[in-house]
Amino acid sequence: MKTYRIADLYSCAGGAGWGYFSTGRLAPEGYDIVDRPNYPYPFNQADAIETLRRIIAGDIVVDAVHASPPCQAKCTLTKGTNKRLEKNYDDYYDETRELMEATGLPGVIENPSARPDVVLCGEMFGLGVIRHRKFELVNWTTEKPKHIKHRGRVRGYRHGEWFDGPYIAAYGNGGDKGTVAEMQDAMGIHWTGVREELTEAIPPAYTKWIGERLVAHLDAMEMEEAA
Ligand SMILES: C[S@@+](CC[C@H](N)C(=O)[O-])C[C@H]1O[C@@H](n2cnc3c(N)ncnc32)[C@H](O)[C@@H]1O
Repeated sequence: MKTYRIADLYSCAGGAGWGYFSTGRLAPEGYDIVDRPNYPYPFNQADAIETLRRIIAGDIVVDAVHASPPCQAKCTLTKGTNKRLEKNYDDYYDETRELMEATGLPGVIENPSARPDVVLCGEMFGLGVIRHRKFELVNWTTEKPKHIKHRGRVRGYRHGEWFDGPYIAAYGNGGDKGTVAEMQDAMGIHWTGVREELTEAIPPAYTKWIGERLVAHLDAMEMEEAA
């Protein structure tokens, strides 16, 4: 059975990459502007936009592309009273999407601005985080999964009131947020203990789910070409 190469753009420490690798059929290679020694697969310190241009030029050869452009410009942490922070962050989503379309390859974009072709949540995989994430599928489609009712609340303070619950907050730094060990267990990420890398990560269960469908799509494309 063929193993497909997937460029993991804006890879950070590889939450997404680990999930793709877990399919047993996808070989991720990471690209991040920051050196990420914890990334568990081949890694390149490189700009994602430049990398997409190299893929289009045929200078880098892959079968699929994943991208998690930085989301700080749109995530809930920079809404409301934190809106003033928005201008501090670059928003690469539009350019990333345009270039991914231009590759002609099947792609997956995870970002708050992404078209919600697939929306995944920790409860769908029995995880200890809620962590809704939107995924836009570029140049391919798959079925939309059903959302599952949450078992309770995210543990922590809301407007000064303490709530207990089966999920931890795997973002930010406040006293009620998950510890590094709790975040690792809650998301199934044990190869990095860097708090920032954990708070940025996609739980690997999410990209394993998407990766399995991506492999089926790639296999179908191969069969079509061979016919
Ligand atoms: C949301 S995180 C990605 C999380 C990752 N998908 C995971 O599951 O662990 C975004 C990453 O984009 C990286 N980044 C920011 N600007 C970049 C650029 N121009 N090119 C490549 N990476 C960039 C940041 O260093 C950060 O690691």
